Amino acid sequence: MIQVAKPYLPESSIFNKYLEGIWERQWLTNNGPLVQELEEKLRNYLGVKHLIYVNNGTIALQIALKALAVTGEIITTPFSYVATTNSILWEGCKPVFADINSTDFNLDPRKIEALITDETVAILATHVYGNPCDVNAIEKIAAQHNLKVIYDGAHAFGAKYNGKQVLSFGDIATCSFHATKIFHTVEGGAIITNDDALAEKMTLYRQFGHVGDEHFSIGINGKNSELHAAMGLCMLPMMHDFIEKRRSISELYNEYLRDLPLQQLEALTGTEYNYSYYPVVIDSEERLLIIKDLLQQNEIVARRYFYPSLNNLPQHTGEPCPVSESVSPRVLALPLFFELENRDVERICSLIKTCF
Ligand SMILES: Cc1ncc(COP(=O)(O)O)c(C=O)c1O
Repeated sequence: MIQVAKPYLPESSIFNKYLEGIWERQWLTNNGPLVQELEEKLRNYLGVKHLIYVNNGTIALQIALKALAVTGEIITTPFSYVATTNSILWEGCKPVFADINSTDFNLDPRKIEALITDETVAILATHVYGNPCDVNAIEKIAAQHNLKVIYDGAHAFGAKYNGKQVLSFGDIATCSFHATKIFHTVEGGAIITNDDALAEKMTLYRQFGHVGDEHFSIGINGKNSELHAAMGLCMLPMMHDFIEKRRSISELYNEYLRDLPLQQLEALTGTEYNYSYYPVVIDSEERLLIIKDLLQQNEIVARRYFYPSLNNLPQHTGEPCPVSESVSPRVLALPLFFELENRDVERICSLIKTCF
């Protein structure tokens, strides 16, 4: 079976070295030395002031929203994973959907201003598939209207925009280190900010709001363990190889699929993509289902990602977002992972070609 994303596992001997240290110290969680080492290495990798390692990308979003103390309306994208908007609802805010751009599928900055009301407090945009949003346009609007900006960078680890890591933009950026992500710690995530006060607050929130016997605020359990951090420490030195391998697989897909009428993801000038995903937009949902079924019959999993458009979910009030509602039923993420072989890419593309 070829999965859409296969987690990379490091050499077990490398992981075992970290395990030996954990067994010696018998320190398993609560901000242990491997968590601290990983945080420092991630901060250096991203070139950011603060990075708080947490147990998943959803809790990262929730802590970010809580720390900005936002209550009210948050302008967000309908084209993302459901965790983005669920976090907004979970924190008691109202998501207001601005439609996406038809070329990069990111929140379209031109759609934001018309939706700003007295209740608007923040913009929460996703770097969809790791492809950077128009951060300059978004942050200009936010500054003019005194709004906070959070980026859901669940897919964006290692992607750059204008020479900077895209996770360094925004009041706060979040990331997911789930096993299917380009960089993973089995489960995990991060909250990133350059603001000292926010970082202090979010560090407290991660650990129930107290340090020892001193209680400072409310909090939650967002901590992650030494075993998860060990996985991250094994993965981080591989980042360059991960991106390069995914780039070469993506280029192979481009070559084999060149003659088909498929819409491909476009990137802003200045983007250095991390090749997190290989999505294609097909001319009709009917054809998408034929392709997906044919791949499935051949033991190949392609994922409808993101589907459906989030504004159509039962928990939302469903403002129309025509671009997202048009792309979402027609977009398919094809298998892309470090160990995917060239001959598999060729086979996947040959099968897709028979559907046209
Ligand atoms: C865009 C987006 N945001 C948030 C998340 C949530 O991350 P996690 O699974 O680590 O909670 C995901 C997970 O895939 C995602 O794709």
